[in-house]
Amino acid sequence: MSNSTIEHLLKRRSVSANALGDPGPDRAQLEQILTAAARVPDHKKLAPWRFILFEGEARDAFGRVLAEVCREEEPEPSAIRLETEAKRFLRAPVVIAVISRVRTNVPVPEWEQVLSAGAACQNMVLAASALGFGVNWITEWYAFSGGVRRALGLEENERVAGFIYIGTAKEKPEERPRPTLEEIVSAWKPS
Ligand SMILES: Cc1cc2nc3c(=O)[nH]c(=O)nc-3n(C[C@H](O)[C@H](O)[C@H](O)COP(=O)(O)O)c2cc1C
Repeated sequence: MSNSTIEHLLKRRSVSANALGDPGPDRAQLEQILTAAARVPDHKKLAPWRFILFEGEARDAFGRVLAEVCREEEPEPSAIRLETEAKRFLRAPVVIAVISRVRTNVPVPEWEQVLSAGAACQNMVLAASALGFGVNWITEWYAFSGGVRRALGLEENERVAGFIYIGTAKEKPEERPRPTLEEIVSAWKPS
């Protein structure tokens, strides 16, 4: 592992979607980010994930879908709430939905396939941040909405693992407390 890789892993921070702006990745950078995301541990090469891109006007159009679904699924959302939903995907120049797709009738447990989708999300985060972009992996309400599932065209075996917002950080995020190794690491001992 190169020094720059370990430094990146030790320093990386998410940037809130609200603190992202232009520019986003260009074509070549986006291809690198997506290729890195597809290069994750994947038991039996199932590719138990797929990616849906939202760029340009598609972000605006998807915002209209979010507002519509919000109106259908929530009791009397306020005008401000609907406005927030309509603008949600405009927070960053690129949003990528990472879709976990679990194959049945394969000798790989669902748990492993879902974990691989999480790894794809994190590789996407790492690749985009290594290229200098601010990134946020979030789900928010619309990852779990039936109406949004339909709008995304998800199959029964598919779930949103995350929406990855990618752009340029307008401000540098502050450091965030992390668990100490004492809190989370133990050495196994025979009983
Ligand atoms: C699966 C998943 C879903 C998340 N969803 C949200 C979310 O909906 N809203 C939110 O504020 N943060 C969410 N987060 C947390 C952010 O991605 C991020 O981890 C957090 O802001 C801390 O930043 P850090 O990456 O610098 O530790 C989610 C994280 C994961 C792993």
